Amino acid sequence: MIDELPDGLVWRHPDVEDHLRVLAVMDDWWAVFGGADGSRQRALLLPRLFFQHFTDSSWLVEHGDGRIAAFLIAFVSPSQPDTAYVHFVGVDPALRRRGVAVDLYRRFFRLAATRGATRVRCITSPGNAASLAFHTGIGFRVDPGDLTIDGVAVQGDYDGPGLHRVAFTRTLTDPAPTPPAAIRDVRVCFVGDSFVAGTGDPTGLGWVGRLTARTRTRGLHLTAYNLGIGGNTSTQILARWRQECLPRLSGAPEPRLVLSFGVNDMTSDGHGVRVAPDRSVANLAALLTDARAILPVLMVGPAPAGNPGRDARVAALDERYADVCAAHGVPYVPVFAALRAQPSWQHEIAAGDGAHPAAAGYEQLTGLVAATWQRWLAPA
Ligand SMILES: CC(C)(COP(=O)(O)OP(=O)(O)OC[C@H]1O[C@@H](n2cnc3c(N)ncnc32)[C@H](O)[C@@H]1OP(=O)(O)O)[C@@H](O)C(=O)NCCC(=O)NCCS
Repeated sequence: MIDELPDGLVWRHPDVEDHLRVLAVMDDWWAVFGGADGSRQRALLLPRLFFQHFTDSSWLVEHGDGRIAAFLIAFVSPSQPDTAYVHFVGVDPALRRRGVAVDLYRRFFRLAATRGATRVRCITSPGNAASLAFHTGIGFRVDPGDLTIDGVAVQGDYDGPGLHRVAFTRTLTDPAPTPPAAIRDVRVCFVGDSFVAGTGDPTGLGWVGRLTARTRTRGLHLTAYNLGIGGNTSTQILARWRQECLPRLSGAPEPRLVLSFGVNDMTSDGHGVRVAPDRSVANLAALLTDARAILPVLMVGPAPAGNPGRDARVAALDERYADVCAAHGVPYVPVFAALRAQPSWQHEIAAGDGAHPAAAGYEQLTGLVAATWQRWLAPA
């Protein structure tokens, strides 16, 4: 089994000097709850005795610079030696859902088992949804109660009049909770034209924003850089991609590149098109040769953009781009045909600036890219 806190965090057992420090971070983390009265109530929940007499079964997690990141106050019951008890757990809101609490519980489970405990108990307040989800998520069962609040069994007056509690029990013979996989730090530059920039989308998200917003893969930290420039051709993108991407990606554990362009190449300049098809294809090939040597690349094909003559040229370029990508081992998402078949795509372009869709169109484009994007993002 791997014991792993997110990078940069270290654990130790707390001591009495940590008492006031923990009270102070609780005020920082939960200042919105109850003001001075809330602060007093939290202090009553964590009196000094826990930092004097229960330290070797409790944990404190700190950043490298000593700031407190999390704590777990727990013990094996002196009166019921088969029962271990978690009194309080807290994780800095900025570090939630990264496996910090589950890591601390696993440490405590192991310690409690070596001391002879066969089960762990704890309580939480009715309505503490995060705590309920966390505890049931790692194998605790809710004990029977005499009340039901929000569908959960609650023990009325458990801690005194009006102080109802949800009580949990977990046996230590249950399999230990699975630790999260190591967090991947993936940074992606999206380089392209106005479609990459999301021009015309009143939500400001475009397909790049929508795609990244819906990427909620467990264990993945995604940083997306939108480097779309309206009017850019393949020639301009070939010239600028290194200069713009490498400073953003250098040192990144998992750098990646998404490309999308082509419409501006096929735009008429009065004599012909801004970039001849052969040049456009050669630009893409040169870019892929260069980029593929250093990072994974995904290409999203050009979209129809409201001008029948240009659209016909873009359709032909789309097929040639697909071939270039196949030859370079780069996944290619063709979107042209599917979008041209969408009346709403054409309608939004006509109602907008004549070239770009609005929110529904970018949503359709996102849907076309999503499956390939997810496969491409999967660990190699
Ligand atoms: C409850 C608490 C300790 C969880 O800490 P955490 O470090 O964010 O939890 P983890 O990352 O270890 O979560 C492990 C699993 O528990 C579940 N979980 C945790 N928080 C959840 C939430 N807010 N909603 C839904 N599920 C949640 C998930 O299944 C999660 O796994 P996943 O992220 O892979 O889906 C934290 O939210 C907290 O400090 N809350 C305030 C203090 C508190 O209420 N303490 C409990 C009462 S003493």
